[in-house]
Amino acid sequence: MDPVKQKKVWEVKQPGVWNPGTLTTAGNLVFQGRADGVLLAYRADTGDKLWEFPTGVGLSAPPITYTVDGKQYLSILTGWGGAGTSMAGSITAQHGWAYRMHPRRLLTFSLEGNATLPPAPPPMQAKAIVKDDFQVDAMLAEQGSKLFLKNCVTCHGGGAVAGGYAPDLRASPIPLYLDGLREVTVKGVRVNAGMPRFQELTDADLIAIQHYIRRQANKTIEAKATP
Ligand code: HEC
Repeated sequence: MDPVKQKKVWEVKQPGVWNPGTLTTAGNLVFQGRADGVLLAYRADTGDKLWEFPTGVGLSAPPITYTVDGKQYLSILTGWGGAGTSMAGSITAQHGWAYRMHPRRLLTFSLEGNATLPPAPPPMQAKAIVKDDFQVDAMLAEQGSKLFLKNCVTCHGGGAVAGGYAPDLRASPIPLYLDGLREVTVKGVRVNAGMPRFQELTDADLIAIQHYIRRQANKTIEAKATP
């Protein structure tokens, strides 16, 4: 934007939605990371692309720049998260950033820097587990849906499709077993890893959540089978 003329000067197409903010420097540069994990530099006056760097995981934060002993650095926290990744499944899963697969890092760049980034696995989509002997009860799944929306959606993703900052529960074996689900949710055995404790959930609630997760897992498989 030209703030004086209040006019758009250039634009670039973004890969899908939920891309982070920009950083503009006095040296005529604009930096932006993208949801698809690429960090880019543009000429501020023309929008010409000058540099790009694949970071191996989706980006949600804008970079910052600073000088130490006269040397300028650019730093960015890599990782895809925030409210946008807990929306509808199509948005959440668009780039295939998976919890435990794609490393979150603090990356720092300088003009003299010559380190290479360790390789990251390619993007992947969660593989929903289908359990044929689990009969989904529509009423229970509906109840589970409400409980999920209230308690779980912000981290595990809309429609139980995770965006990458918590495991995809359709692909996790833990919700298949009531005991396991109780350990993780009610007992809070993974609190240290960022999975909160839900002491108030009853076994009836957990069973409803199980039915909901299986319904969502089956939906994924059915959607794939339909051309
Ligand atoms: C604040 C974010 C957050 C919320 C809210 C949340 N979770 Fe989690 N959950 C996590 C994280 C992070 C992990 C991974 C912990 C680890 O690394 O072991 C996790 C792990 C799990 C696992 C284990 C999955 C696996 O394969 O290891 C289950 C099951 C689970 N959560 C169920 C739920 C349910 C059910 C709810 C809602 C009642 C819920 N979670 C709400 C963040 C959250």
